[in-house]
Amino acid sequence: MIVIKFGGSVLNALHPSIIEEIHQISLNEKMVLVHGGGNEVTSMATRLGKEQKFIVSPSGIRSRYTDKETAEIYTMVMSGKINKIIVRMLVEVGIRAVGISGIDNNTLRAKRKTKLTILNEKGRKMIIEGGYTGKISSVDTSLLNTLTDGRYVPVVSPIALSENYEFLNVDGDRAAAYIAGNLKADKAIFLTNVNGLQLDDKLIEKLTCNQAKEYLPKIGFGMEKKILASTEALMLGVKEVIISSGKVSNPIACAMNHVNCTVISN
Ligand SMILES: Nc1ncnc2c1ncn2[C@@H]1O[C@H](COP(=O)(O)OP(=O)(O)OP(=O)(O)O)[C@@H](O)[C@H]1O
Ligand SMILES: [Mg+2]
Repeated sequence: MIVIKFGGSVLNALHPSIIEEIHQISLNEKMVLVHGGGNEVTSMATRLGKEQKFIVSPSGIRSRYTDKETAEIYTMVMSGKINKIIVRMLVEVGIRAVGISGIDNNTLRAKRKTKLTILNEKGRKMIIEGGYTGKISSVDTSLLNTLTDGRYVPVVSPIALSENYEFLNVDGDRAAAYIAGNLKADKAIFLTNVNGLQLDDKLIEKLTCNQAKEYLPKIGFGMEKKILASTEALMLGVKEVIISSGKVSNPIACAMNHVNCTVISN
Protein backbone atom coordinates (compact mmCIF):
# COMPACT_ATOMS: atom_id res chain seq x y z
CA MET A 1 0.00 0.00 0.00
CA ILE A 2 1.29 3.41 -0.93
CA VAL A 3 -0.20 6.78 -0.04
CA ILE A 4 0.63 9.82 -2.16
CA LYS A 5 -0.33 13.37 -1.30
CA PHE A 6 -0.58 15.85 -4.16
CA GLY A 7 0.25 19.29 -2.87
CA GLY A 8 -2.10 22.00 -4.03
CA SER A 9 1.06 23.94 -4.81
CA VAL A 10 2.00 21.59 -7.63
CA LEU A 11 -1.39 20.56 -9.06
CA ASN A 12 -1.05 22.92 -11.99
CA ALA A 13 2.58 22.00 -12.56
CA LEU A 14 2.61 18.21 -12.20
CA HIS A 15 4.90 16.56 -14.71
CA PRO A 16 2.63 14.81 -17.25
CA SER A 17 4.61 11.56 -16.82
CA ILE A 18 3.00 11.12 -13.40
CA ILE A 19 -0.25 9.96 -14.97
CA GLU A 20 1.33 6.92 -16.56
CA GLU A 21 3.25 6.21 -13.35
CA ILE A 22 0.03 6.19 -11.36
CA HIS A 23 -1.60 4.02 -13.99
CA GLN A 24 1.20 1.44 -13.79
CA ILE A 25 1.35 1.41 -10.00
CA SER A 26 -2.42 1.12 -9.73
CA LEU A 27 -2.29 -2.08 -11.78
CA ASN A 28 0.17 -3.71 -9.39
CA GLU A 29 -0.26 -2.15 -6.00
CA LYS A 30 -2.87 -0.61 -3.74
CA MET A 31 -2.71 3.13 -3.74
CA VAL A 32 -4.55 6.00 -2.07
CA LEU A 33 -4.18 9.61 -3.16
CA VAL A 34 -4.81 12.58 -0.88
CA HIS A 35 -4.73 16.17 -2.05
CA GLY A 36 -4.27 19.67 -0.71
CA GLY A 37 -5.28 22.94 -2.32
CA GLY A 38 -4.80 25.82 0.05
CA ASN A 39 -4.06 28.40 -2.61
CA GLU A 40 -7.16 27.52 -4.60
CA VAL A 41 -9.30 27.84 -1.45
CA THR A 42 -7.79 31.26 -0.78
CA SER A 43 -8.32 32.47 -4.33
CA MET A 44 -11.95 31.27 -4.47
CA ALA A 45 -12.65 32.77 -1.03
CA THR A 46 -11.24 36.07 -2.25
CA ARG A 47 -13.45 35.92 -5.33
CA LEU A 48 -16.41 35.39 -3.00
CA GLY A 49 -15.37 38.42 -0.97
CA LYS A 50 -14.23 36.38 2.00
CA GLU A 51 -10.78 37.43 3.05
CA GLN A 52 -8.71 34.58 4.50
CA LYS A 53 -6.74 34.86 7.71
CA PHE A 54 -3.84 32.70 8.78
CA ILE A 55 -2.73 32.01 12.32
CA VAL A 56 0.48 30.62 13.78
CA SER A 57 0.58 28.26 16.76
CA PRO A 58 3.21 28.62 19.52
CA SER A 59 5.12 25.74 17.94
CA GLY A 60 5.31 27.64 14.65
CA ILE A 61 2.68 25.79 12.63
CA ARG A 62 0.63 28.02 10.34
CA SER A 63 -3.00 27.33 9.52
CA ARG A 64 -6.01 28.92 7.91
CA TYR A 65 -8.39 30.52 10.37
CA THR A 66 -11.54 28.61 9.46
CA ASP A 67 -14.79 30.29 10.50
CA LYS A 68 -18.15 28.85 9.43
CA GLU A 69 -18.16 30.55 6.00
CA THR A 70 -14.57 29.58 5.36
CA ALA A 71 -15.39 25.97 6.28
CA GLU A 72 -18.13 26.02 3.64
CA ILE A 73 -15.83 27.45 0.99
CA TYR A 74 -13.08 25.02 1.97
CA THR A 75 -15.44 22.05 1.61
CA MET A 76 -16.77 23.30 -1.72
CA VAL A 77 -13.38 23.94 -3.28
CA MET A 78 -11.59 20.87 -1.94
CA SER A 79 -14.31 18.31 -2.43
CA GLY A 80 -16.01 19.92 -5.42
CA LYS A 81 -13.45 21.59 -7.58
CA ILE A 82 -10.01 20.20 -6.82
CA ASN A 83 -11.02 16.62 -6.09
CA LYS A 84 -12.99 16.34 -9.32
CA ILE A 85 -10.25 17.87 -11.45
CA ILE A 86 -7.83 15.24 -10.15
CA VAL A 87 -10.30 12.40 -10.66
CA ARG A 88 -10.99 13.56 -14.20
CA MET A 89 -7.29 13.74 -14.99
CA LEU A 90 -6.94 10.10 -13.89
CA VAL A 91 -10.08 8.56 -15.40
CA GLU A 92 -9.22 10.20 -18.71
CA VAL A 93 -6.43 7.64 -19.13
CA GLY A 94 -8.35 4.70 -17.73
CA ILE A 95 -7.30 4.81 -14.07
CA ARG A 96 -10.13 3.61 -11.81
CA ALA A 97 -10.12 6.77 -9.70
CA VAL A 98 -12.90 7.50 -7.22
CA GLY A 99 -13.12 10.84 -5.45
CA ILE A 100 -14.23 10.88 -1.84
CA SER A 101 -13.73 13.21 1.08
CA GLY A 102 -12.98 12.37 4.68
CA ILE A 103 -16.71 12.79 5.28
CA ASP A 104 -17.70 9.77 3.21
CA ASN A 105 -18.39 6.80 5.46
CA ASN A 106 -16.80 8.70 8.39
CA THR A 107 -13.38 8.12 6.89
CA LEU A 108 -11.87 11.02 8.82
CA ARG A 109 -13.17 12.05 12.22
CA ALA A 110 -11.57 14.90 14.12
CA LYS A 111 -11.90 16.61 17.45
CA ARG A 112 -12.88 20.21 16.91
CA LYS A 113 -10.57 22.72 18.53
CA THR A 114 -12.94 25.00 20.41
CA LYS A 115 -10.10 27.28 21.55
CA LEU A 116 -6.82 27.99 19.77
CA THR A 117 -3.61 29.32 21.23
CA ILE A 118 -1.92 31.55 18.69
CA LEU A 119 0.97 33.96 18.57
CA ASN A 120 -0.04 37.57 17.90
CA GLU A 121 2.06 40.01 15.86
CA LYS A 122 4.21 40.73 18.91
CA GLY A 123 4.91 37.03 19.40
CA ARG A 124 2.72 36.84 22.51
CA LYS A 125 0.40 33.91 23.14
CA MET A 126 -3.31 34.60 22.76
CA ILE A 127 -6.36 32.37 23.04
CA ILE A 128 -9.05 32.75 20.39
CA GLU A 129 -12.25 30.95 19.37
CA GLY A 130 -11.37 27.76 17.55
CA GLY A 131 -13.54 27.82 14.46
CA TYR A 132 -13.81 24.76 12.26
CA THR A 133 -10.50 22.98 12.35
CA GLY A 134 -9.67 19.83 14.18
CA LYS A 135 -7.14 17.22 15.10
CA ILE A 136 -7.81 13.88 13.45
CA SER A 137 -9.07 11.45 16.08
CA SER A 138 -9.89 8.39 14.01
CA VAL A 139 -9.68 7.01 10.50
CA ASP A 140 -12.27 4.50 9.34
CA THR A 141 -10.36 2.61 6.69
CA SER A 142 -13.23 0.36 5.61
CA LEU A 143 -14.29 2.36 2.54
CA LEU A 144 -10.68 2.94 1.47
CA ASN A 145 -9.94 -0.77 1.84
CA THR A 146 -13.09 -1.76 -0.04
CA LEU A 147 -12.09 0.55 -2.89
CA THR A 148 -8.46 -0.56 -3.06
CA ASP A 149 -9.50 -4.23 -2.77
CA GLY A 150 -11.68 -3.57 -5.82
CA ARG A 151 -8.67 -2.07 -7.61
CA TYR A 152 -10.05 1.44 -7.46
CA VAL A 153 -7.80 4.37 -6.63
CA PRO A 154 -9.41 6.57 -3.95
CA VAL A 155 -8.69 10.29 -4.16
CA VAL A 156 -9.38 11.84 -0.77
CA SER A 157 -10.02 15.48 0.07
CA PRO A 158 -8.94 16.58 3.54
CA ILE A 159 -12.23 17.30 5.27
CA ALA A 160 -13.21 15.59 8.51
CA LEU A 161 -16.37 15.33 10.58
CA SER A 162 -16.40 16.66 14.12
CA GLU A 163 -18.08 14.99 17.11
CA ASN A 164 -21.20 16.96 16.13
CA TYR A 165 -20.90 16.18 12.44
CA GLU A 166 -19.62 19.59 11.44
CA PHE A 167 -17.30 19.88 8.43
CA LEU A 168 -13.77 20.51 9.65
CA ASN A 169 -10.74 21.72 7.76
CA VAL A 170 -7.99 19.18 8.40
CA ASP A 171 -4.72 19.83 6.69
CA GLY A 172 -3.93 17.69 3.62
CA ASP A 173 -0.47 16.69 4.81
CA ARG A 174 -1.74 15.51 8.16
CA ALA A 175 -4.75 13.78 6.61
CA ALA A 176 -2.34 11.89 4.34
CA ALA A 177 -0.16 10.98 7.34
CA TYR A 178 -3.08 9.60 9.35
CA ILE A 179 -4.51 7.75 6.37
CA ALA A 180 -1.12 6.20 5.58
CA GLY A 181 -0.60 5.20 9.22
CA ASN A 182 -4.04 3.67 9.61
CA LEU A 183 -3.80 1.81 6.29
CA LYS A 184 -0.42 0.47 7.42
CA ALA A 185 1.13 1.85 4.25
CA ASP A 186 4.80 1.08 3.63
CA LYS A 187 5.42 4.49 2.15
CA ALA A 188 3.91 7.94 2.11
CA ILE A 189 5.01 10.38 -0.58
CA PHE A 190 4.35 14.10 -0.35
CA LEU A 191 4.61 15.63 -3.79
CA THR A 192 5.08 19.37 -3.68
CA ASN A 193 6.59 22.26 -5.63
CA VAL A 194 10.12 21.98 -4.19
CA ASN A 195 12.56 19.05 -4.07
CA GLY A 196 12.28 18.59 -0.33
CA LEU A 197 13.39 20.15 2.92
CA GLN A 198 16.06 22.79 2.41
CA LEU A 199 18.14 24.08 5.29
CA ASP A 200 20.91 26.64 4.81
CA ASP A 201 20.38 26.38 1.04
CA LYS A 202 21.03 22.66 1.06
CA LEU A 203 18.61 19.86 0.31
CA ILE A 204 18.38 17.54 3.30
CA GLU A 205 18.36 14.07 1.78
CA LYS A 206 17.88 11.95 4.89
CA LEU A 207 16.29 12.59 8.25
CA THR A 208 15.27 10.50 11.24
CA CYS A 209 12.01 11.15 13.03
CA ASN A 210 13.87 12.73 15.95
CA GLN A 211 15.95 14.98 13.70
CA ALA A 212 12.78 16.05 11.95
CA LYS A 213 11.27 17.10 15.29
CA GLU A 214 14.43 18.98 16.21
CA TYR A 215 14.52 20.88 12.93
CA LEU A 216 10.84 21.85 13.06
CA PRO A 217 11.25 25.32 14.61
CA LYS A 218 13.76 26.26 11.86
CA ILE A 219 11.49 25.35 8.96
CA GLY A 220 9.33 27.86 7.08
CA PHE A 221 5.59 27.76 6.51
CA GLY A 222 4.31 25.05 4.19
CA MET A 223 7.25 22.71 4.71
CA GLU A 224 6.88 22.80 8.52
CA LYS A 225 3.53 21.06 8.26
CA LYS A 226 4.88 18.43 5.93
CA ILE A 227 7.70 17.64 8.34
CA LEU A 228 5.27 17.50 11.27
CA ALA A 229 2.96 15.23 9.24
CA SER A 230 5.94 13.04 8.33
CA THR A 231 6.78 12.48 12.00
CA GLU A 232 3.12 11.62 12.64
CA ALA A 233 3.10 9.10 9.80
CA LEU A 234 6.27 7.45 11.13
CA MET A 235 4.87 7.33 14.65
CA LEU A 236 1.77 5.64 13.23
CA GLY A 237 3.97 2.93 11.72
CA VAL A 238 4.69 4.08 8.17
CA LYS A 239 8.20 2.89 7.33
CA GLU A 240 9.32 5.72 5.10
CA VAL A 241 8.09 9.19 4.20
CA ILE A 242 9.38 10.99 1.12
CA ILE A 243 8.98 14.67 0.34
CA SER A 244 9.72 15.36 -3.29
CA SER A 245 8.90 17.44 -6.32
CA GLY A 246 5.91 16.69 -8.52
CA LYS A 247 7.41 18.82 -11.29
CA VAL A 248 10.24 16.53 -12.37
CA SER A 249 9.98 13.80 -14.97
CA ASN A 250 8.69 10.52 -13.44
CA PRO A 251 8.20 12.08 -10.01
CA ILE A 252 7.04 8.90 -8.27
CA ALA A 253 10.00 6.84 -9.52
CA CYS A 254 12.32 9.64 -8.36
CA ALA A 255 10.74 9.59 -4.92
CA MET A 256 10.87 5.80 -4.67
CA ASN A 257 14.51 5.81 -5.74
CA HIS A 258 15.38 8.66 -3.39
CA VAL A 259 16.57 10.93 -6.17
CA ASN A 260 16.76 14.61 -5.24
CA CYS A 261 14.32 14.48 -2.35
CA THR A 262 14.01 14.26 1.42
CA VAL A 263 13.56 10.80 2.96
CA ILE A 264 12.39 10.57 6.56
CA SER A 265 12.62 7.21 8.29
CA ASN A 266 13.83 5.70 11.52
N1 LIG B 1 12.99 24.91 4.76
C1 LIG B 1 12.18 24.78 3.71
N2 LIG B 1 12.51 23.91 2.73
C2 LIG B 1 11.75 23.76 1.64
N3 LIG B 1 10.58 24.43 1.45
C3 LIG B 1 10.20 25.32 2.38
C4 LIG B 1 10.99 25.53 3.55
N4 LIG B 1 10.35 26.47 4.31
C5 LIG B 1 9.26 26.83 3.66
N5 LIG B 1 9.12 26.14 2.50
C6 LIG B 1 8.01 26.30 1.56
O1 LIG B 1 7.12 25.21 1.64
C7 LIG B 1 6.42 25.17 0.40
C8 LIG B 1 5.66 23.87 0.24
O2 LIG B 1 4.51 23.85 1.08
P1 LIG B 1 3.09 24.36 0.56
O3 LIG B 1 2.12 24.18 1.69
O4 LIG B 1 3.22 25.70 -0.03
O5 LIG B 1 2.77 23.37 -0.64
P2 LIG B 1 1.90 22.03 -0.67
O6 LIG B 1 1.80 21.44 0.69
O7 LIG B 1 2.51 21.21 -1.74
O8 LIG B 1 0.48 22.55 -1.14
P3 LIG B 1 -0.93 22.47 -0.29
O9 LIG B 1 -0.63 23.00 1.08
O10 LIG B 1 -1.86 23.33 -1.06
O11 LIG B 1 -1.31 21.04 -0.31
C9 LIG B 1 7.51 25.39 -0.61
O12 LIG B 1 7.02 25.93 -1.82
C10 LIG B 1 8.46 26.37 0.10
O13 LIG B 1 8.25 27.68 -0.35
MG1 LIG C 1 0.91 22.61 2.31
